[in-house]
Amino acid sequence: MGRAIVTLVAVDRTALESVDLLVCGCTELATPRGVDATGGTAPGELEVIECGAVAIRAGRIVAVGQEADLRSRFLADEDLDAGGGLVVPGFVDAHTHPVFAGTREEEFEMRTAGKSYVEIARAGGGIVSSVAGVRAASKETLLAGLLQRLDRFLTLGTTTVEAKTGYGLRLEDELKCLEVIAEANRTHPVRLVPTFLGAHDFPPEYRENRAAYVDLLVEEMLPTVAESGLAEYCDIFTETHVFDLADSRRILTRARELGFGLRLHVDQLTALGGAQLAAEVGARSADHLEFVDPRGIEAMAEAGVVPVLCPLVPLYLRVEQEAPARRMIDAGLAPALATDFNPGSCYCMSLPEVMTFAALRYRMSAAECLTAATLNAAVSVDRGRELGTLEVGKRADLVVLDHPNHLHLAYEFGRNPVRAVVIDGRIVHSV
Ligand code: NIG
Ligand code: FE
Repeated sequence: MGRAIVTLVAVDRTALESVDLLVCGCTELATPRGVDATGGTAPGELEVIECGAVAIRAGRIVAVGQEADLRSRFLADEDLDAGGGLVVPGFVDAHTHPVFAGTREEEFEMRTAGKSYVEIARAGGGIVSSVAGVRAASKETLLAGLLQRLDRFLTLGTTTVEAKTGYGLRLEDELKCLEVIAEANRTHPVRLVPTFLGAHDFPPEYRENRAAYVDLLVEEMLPTVAESGLAEYCDIFTETHVFDLADSRRILTRARELGFGLRLHVDQLTALGGAQLAAEVGARSADHLEFVDPRGIEAMAEAGVVPVLCPLVPLYLRVEQEAPARRMIDAGLAPALATDFNPGSCYCMSLPEVMTFAALRYRMSAAECLTAATLNAAVSVDRGRELGTLEVGKRADLVVLDHPNHLHLAYEFGRNPVRAVVIDGRIVHSV
């Protein structure tokens, strides 16, 4: 009997298709499906495979299914044993500001003592204090800092990071930051999506002449950055104390003409109507949205804008107002979740923690959180065809977590559950 089985296996092995890597040994594999952002993912819409596995060849997923089935079809050069954990797509962080030198913990203390974000900014702190750090730092220093942060993102399961500039606010320093992002993208496994955020704030030398900085952005900075090919997106901080709606419209219209995709920081601190502007200019994403009104939600839904929610930020800024995530989902919008990692308003790189806060504050289910931090986030950076789900043909980016099922993604926080990370079919992190 034993001999018969041995013979059978030997015969089958010759007929097996070879693959580079088989991710196996998990209790559960959970993934959203498709290439478009999914609004209001019901738990049942998530594909959940008990004892699932993923077969990978040349960096792409060639099969997803029951482990027993995949083992009968594929012979792998290497197995990645999930050790009874959970396998999900790599996390996509759709909003970060990771290029800076120097941290701002003293502002955090000022806020806990009662000062507001805008008060600190008006007193010369905030974004402008990070501008001084970036202008004084060499490219090498900025790159070393970014690479170290990307290592941390990776250990937390993030495989793609949208990375904004915005602390140079002068052509040479913005280009320096974009070059740093490009260099990190070449050398670090985490993939980066570069965004030019020259309209993050008014630099100190233009405080008294704001209109001149808007002219500079439109006439010189945007065309030169477009020419460099170093940024895919243009972003802006549309808010009462920084760029108003008229300036924002002018800057974004020019950026669109030059071929940038558009993203906006809007309705974060006041109800300015930024979401409507995002819809009007055809933005890919509108981010923050704590103060968005029903008309803004409607406009975003009509224009197909992806809302990028950053639930740790109001917590960091001690702002009570919460983004109306459920109303957005009810309107058919498909929110992405992001950390907004930056030295001022969120010094946290963990999408697992963001998922817990989204569940608790925004009443998003674990399935909605997972979809928001993978597929919807990938769509918000125009990578829905390549990333965001575990499906045949997509890039093999995935995370193995020390969780028994996907509900734990929202349920547990305060411990890093990531056991292993695969990017483009390569095991780039394991513990
Ligand atoms: O997304 N809102 C503007 N930008 C960042 C804050 C950046 C900073 O304070 O350095 C944000 O919250
Ligand atoms: Fe931001």
